[in-house]
Amino acid sequence: MTASFPPGFLWGAATAAYQVEGAAQEDGRTRSIWDTFSHTPGKVAGGDTGDVAVDHYHRFREDVRLMAELRLGAYRFSVSWPRVQPTGRGPAVQRGLDFYRALVDELLAHGITPLLTLYHWDLPQELESAGGWPERDTAYRFADYARLVADALGDRVEMWTTLNEPWCSAFLGYGSGVHAPGRTDPVAALRAAHHLNLAHGLGAQALRGALPARARVAVSINPGAVRALTPSAEDGDAQRRIDALATRIFTDPMLHGRYPADLFEDTAGITDWQFVRDFDLSVIKHPLDALGINYYTPTVVSAATDNEPPRKDGHGAGAQSPWPGADRVAFHQPPGELTAMEWSVDPTGLYDLLMRFTREVPRVPLLVTENGAAYEDKPDADGVVHDPERIAYLHSHLGAVHRAIADGADVRGYFLWSFLDNFEWAYGYEKRFGAVHVDYATQARTPKSSAHWYADVARSGVLPPA
Ligand code: FCB
Repeated sequence: MTASFPPGFLWGAATAAYQVEGAAQEDGRTRSIWDTFSHTPGKVAGGDTGDVAVDHYHRFREDVRLMAELRLGAYRFSVSWPRVQPTGRGPAVQRGLDFYRALVDELLAHGITPLLTLYHWDLPQELESAGGWPERDTAYRFADYARLVADALGDRVEMWTTLNEPWCSAFLGYGSGVHAPGRTDPVAALRAAHHLNLAHGLGAQALRGALPARARVAVSINPGAVRALTPSAEDGDAQRRIDALATRIFTDPMLHGRYPADLFEDTAGITDWQFVRDFDLSVIKHPLDALGINYYTPTVVSAATDNEPPRKDGHGAGAQSPWPGADRVAFHQPPGELTAMEWSVDPTGLYDLLMRFTREVPRVPLLVTENGAAYEDKPDADGVVHDPERIAYLHSHLGAVHRAIADGADVRGYFLWSFLDNFEWAYGYEKRFGAVHVDYATQARTPKSSAHWYADVARSGVLPPA
């Protein structure tokens, strides 16, 4: 069966500043926590850094032309905070803003809708040196930065998101330490989570104050599709605990203006949460024009037994757990084929999340702001990159989106991760998520067969039979 998507559905692809731009020391940009982290030996596979990345900063015109050839209707990118406000305080650097103005103008000239993310993990190093996300002041700094970008780009960008995946910023950055800034402190991780929530609320307020009424304000989260290994009460409790830490810690404040009571109980031995002040929750609960969902793979948990299986939660081999207060939870490899990340392929996780938020906030439109897979893609003798696994992955996940729409979910768009192969954080350039292959020696771009497949789907709005 073919499946038609609603008219106006956005067919997009996504990237993030540090993963693609390069030009790390140009035009006034200074270090972010990811520059510091990637330049610290042992933190990133192969010692890779984002210094050059895929040179999108210099090649954006060529890249936008390619997007247009590939029929993309929308492009999700992030603004590098240290490129436009190098110390995280004070006035903007015009050359930094000029880059994003030029990028957006190029997109609009090709009929591609820009979706701007303010924060995709590159905190100015100076703000980390002053305490980073565990400090409340960072949330206020974010709101100032949001205002500055809104003033510069509000006349030409209509779709804005505050944060990308605050879970990763808080728990991989300050908990397990596999992401920048690489701290391993459960109290800092929980404080960071709250201040990211606050940053979202203050940032959304700042955007509303500066943007024209037609602008839309959203956030991108990576809620967990968390499943219990067995129907036992103990495994159900493990599922509840990880769901609170993965998802409700962000969505309860953002969507309902409260923290989950069970989260406070589960973490009572770690912190008393006194850093949550009066009125914070009313700021965090800011009316959203859309909720962005990033999804890759489900998580399977059980109560830990004495012969605890190895931790397999898909977030890198940190010595420290990213899950505060969940030491008695075991993580299991979910069933299904594995991608190069060793993430299992299971589109039902995406369907379940879309239906969950449809039930929870029926009036908030949804966007899939990231979905995709890494494979070991190589050009063949003729220079063609065949990636049938990625086509199958995209096909099954778009099928899940279509099924959710048929079942009542108001999904307005889908952004494939990623437009280009790029710097995959702690994995460096080893993992390729792109629909477009990049030869890192020459920076040559070659659309993979999945890019051509996706272009056909985007052009017709129809998913062909499997
Ligand atoms: C997400 C990130 C994105 C990319 C994908 C694979 O967690 O938001 O930058 O690295 O994973």
